[in-house]
Amino acid sequence: MIRQPLRNMLSGVAEPFLFLVVLTCCLPDAAVCQPSGGSDLQLPFELRRLAFGSCAKQKYVRQPIWDVVAATQPDAFIWTGDAHYANCSSVACLREGYAKQSSVPEYAAFVGSKDADGRPVVGGMWDDHDYGVNDGGQFYSLKNTSQSLFLDFIGVPTDSPRRSRQGVYSSLSFGTPPHKTKLLMLDTRFFRDWPLLPSVGSIRLPGSAFIGALVRFSLAFFGFGEGYSGDVLGEDQWMWLEEQLTHSDAAVHVILSSIQIMTMCAVFESWGHFPIARQRLFSLLQRTKPKGLIFISGDVHFGEAIGKSSGVVEVTSSGLTHSCATATLVGPLCEPLLVRCPHMRLDHNATAYYVRENFGLLDVRFEPPDAPTPKRVHLHAAVLDEDGRERITANVTRSLSDDPSVPLRYLDEVPSLIRHTSPVTKGAVFAVLGLVMLVGGQVFVVLCVSILRLCSGKKKGKRKTG
Ligand SMILES: *[C@@H]1O[C@H](CO)[C@@H](O)[C@H](O)[C@H]1NC(C)=O
Ligand SMILES: *[C@@H]1O[C@H](CO)[C@@H](O)[C@H](O)[C@H]1NC(C)=O
Ligand SMILES: *[C@@H]1O[C@H](CO)[C@@H](O)[C@H](O)[C@H]1NC(C)=O
Ligand SMILES: *[C@@H]1O[C@H](CO)[C@@H](O)[C@H](O)[C@H]1NC(C)=O
Repeated sequence: MIRQPLRNMLSGVAEPFLFLVVLTCCLPDAAVCQPSGGSDLQLPFELRRLAFGSCAKQKYVRQPIWDVVAATQPDAFIWTGDAHYANCSSVACLREGYAKQSSVPEYAAFVGSKDADGRPVVGGMWDDHDYGVNDGGQFYSLKNTSQSLFLDFIGVPTDSPRRSRQGVYSSLSFGTPPHKTKLLMLDTRFFRDWPLLPSVGSIRLPGSAFIGALVRFSLAFFGFGEGYSGDVLGEDQWMWLEEQLTHSDAAVHVILSSIQIMTMCAVFESWGHFPIARQRLFSLLQRTKPKGLIFISGDVHFGEAIGKSSGVVEVTSSGLTHSCATATLVGPLCEPLLVRCPHMRLDHNATAYYVRENFGLLDVRFEPPDAPTPKRVHLHAAVLDEDGRERITANVTRSLSDDPSVPLRYLDEVPSLIRHTSPVTKGAVFAVLGLVMLVGGQVFVVLCVSILRLCSGKKKGKRKTG
């Protein structure tokens, strides 16, 4: 009895309120009228095959792997970062990096091979090298220019919402519910804080990337940075991501991060070095419950599958033209290193990695096929070699009527990348470091003095003989 007047009263309040919302949304700027959580680009066709890959060096002027990618006939190719390696401190340099990759004949042929529907769609994300600086973050001075050049490179139209926001994060959706797939591409560079210790990898000196890796490993190993609150996405992007995930009507959600999310290999840049931000990502996912979630990533110069088929899977593909096994300095270290960090690899399969050149594929299959309301979705992800052979595979099957929050509970099991150590251990590390610096400093001084003496001795000797 009370309910009816209450409902009337509520709707009496709600209607003008809604009208006001619509009005304030529409008047100032038409762009604001896009429904919140809408994708930057909505493609009408259903996604059946997504190809992805990262790390292309332009010193390889021929990149035959693109012919192999093309032969798999993907609906889309998504860069997971490092489309060029110019490491730039000038705009001309950035421009040249993209231009060189665009003119690689095999890449140009693949990008230009669009069918009547515009497939393959080419898009994606940058990482540190194409952004402009190895291990770079928000403090890169050319980031605005870098953004527009990257968007030019992947052919984003000038009227796209991506042109008017800061950062290149974006969403792309394929098909319509219940066959909809949503791809969320995270920008882990534009807004990212320094890591706990700023990486020396950004200094352009031989071996600096190697030292950067060593520092990252040591910090994590000795337990520094367990509570480090550095951010990866920045507030604008966090808000956007939350909108994209909240009440999303997609059956499959692919989240792209150039750097790995769930890895336990501390030598590489990853979300694990930003533990609070990673927890924020996991909590956001558990709160918004995206259906059919899978992560894809790049960056590391090998392929890998991480996680659990019944939980959350991450598939990493890197690199297209060069790989960890063929790297000059770290080549021989690559596999021994990977063997030493087996934790988290897919379903405890310690060998679910591949150290040579590769690209990734994600196949999406709704079951039963062509049913208007499918019951299940099957994701088959793979890392393929230069001959198009599958080297790593991951299978994820989700019933569309199941509670999507169940697999997401797995995120609670992802251990911290930073080891937990006692204050005593940390103190000991400082003591040893102090000692090394003290002894090293003395040795350095003694060496300098000896060299000076030697030189002045020689001069004296020369004078005597001369
Ligand atoms: C950019 O830096 C990376 C690692 O720091 C290096 O491997 C690469 O050769 C550099 N590129 C150029 C063009 O100097
Ligand atoms: C980039 O552009 C934004 C807004 O257009 C501006 O506020 C910011 O200072 C620029 N940053 C750099 C590093 O040029
Ligand atoms: C583990 O992964 C490797 C590489 O993907 C694969 O060759 C191997 O068959 C897998 N092992 C098991 C037990 O699934
Ligand atoms: C995934 O499924 C394919 C066949 O559909 C199979 O060949 C492959 O071994 C499976 N991968 C894993 C890791 O179970």
